Amino acid sequence: MTLKCRECRECNGIACRGEIPGVGGKDTGRSFIRNVEAFRNVRINMDVCAQPGNVSTEAHILGMDLSVPVFMAPVAGIRGNYGADIDDHDYNLMMLDGCDLAGIRGFTGDGIDLEGLFAGSARAVNDHDGHGIVTIKPWVKEGIDARIEILSKLKFDMAAMDIDAAGLPLLRAGKTPVETKTAEALRYVRERLGKPFIVKGVMTVNAALTAVEAGCDAIVVSNHGGRVLDDTPGTIEVLPEIAEAVKGKITILLDGGVRSGNDIFKALALGADGVLIGRPLALACIKGGAEGVRDAVGKLQAQLRDTMLMTGCHVLKDITSDKVRIM
Ligand SMILES: Cc1cc2nc3c(=O)[nH]c(=O)nc-3n(C[C@H](O)[C@H](O)[C@H](O)COP(=O)(O)O)c2cc1C
Repeated sequence: MTLKCRECRECNGIACRGEIPGVGGKDTGRSFIRNVEAFRNVRINMDVCAQPGNVSTEAHILGMDLSVPVFMAPVAGIRGNYGADIDDHDYNLMMLDGCDLAGIRGFTGDGIDLEGLFAGSARAVNDHDGHGIVTIKPWVKEGIDARIEILSKLKFDMAAMDIDAAGLPLLRAGKTPVETKTAEALRYVRERLGKPFIVKGVMTVNAALTAVEAGCDAIVVSNHGGRVLDDTPGTIEVLPEIAEAVKGKITILLDGGVRSGNDIFKALALGADGVLIGRPLALACIKGGAEGVRDAVGKLQAQLRDTMLMTGCHVLKDITSDKVRIM
């Protein structure tokens, strides 16, 4: 199978810049590239003068027990973006199987195709006893209501909204378009769903405070992997100011450029409770199925465990801001 993704040794957005459909970042691709590069500006303070003992990467996030604080990010349009011969329903079934094997959880995606893409993906979550996070795009009320109607007949643990999809030209031009969201509009979705609700696509303190005001349960500091706006900061660059404003009021997740156990460590040190990973885990799934996901997550977990040992951390809450420095 020849994929559109070039499967680079490091997934850094350079070879695929501007390729949408495809897996690249928008326009010059700089937002995607910067997500990855910004992690290199955070250095880890090695310190092994600490009590010896076991190291655990186990996490408890939003009531979910995870082997490692990692989620598979929503990745939709597998045929169009990857050129893979698999539809979104089957991708999500495999992806969620992989999450089960790895002891993590995954998000499904959304798109214009209500039945094939949204309902197909949500049914994959239903078929995993509801263990997954269903993502809804920021449609106008009619589009949201149609999706909540579908969800009312399915099992799902929680839902998310990628509010940063509000500017996607294809979705803005549709019969039921997407729109930007206020706290009131987010509260409406949270209340109608009656389940934990995650706002994905937060890049400013204002957006994070809006999610808190709306009574949401978590935010994902994210620029959609650089696919919705060129020239944003890297997500790890905005994390400290967002964490300072809302830590303790809402669960904080981050995605964009997380490629290693060290990157997970850096995100946790700077205020995240967990991370989502998009392209590398999606590729592991497309190429290797559920076992591919399990192996890729196992590698991340081993790296994180090593880094915790080398910094005197036994459990995730030991990973504090003094364990890193920003250059
Ligand atoms: C091909 C592709 C499709 C995506 N589809 C969605 C989607 O439907 N909903 C969503 O919230 N994010 C979507 N994303 C963004 C990811 O969820 C995530 O925010 C991003 O990929 C994280 O960056 P990373 O790939 O560098 O880890 C997509 C990303 C890619 C590459």
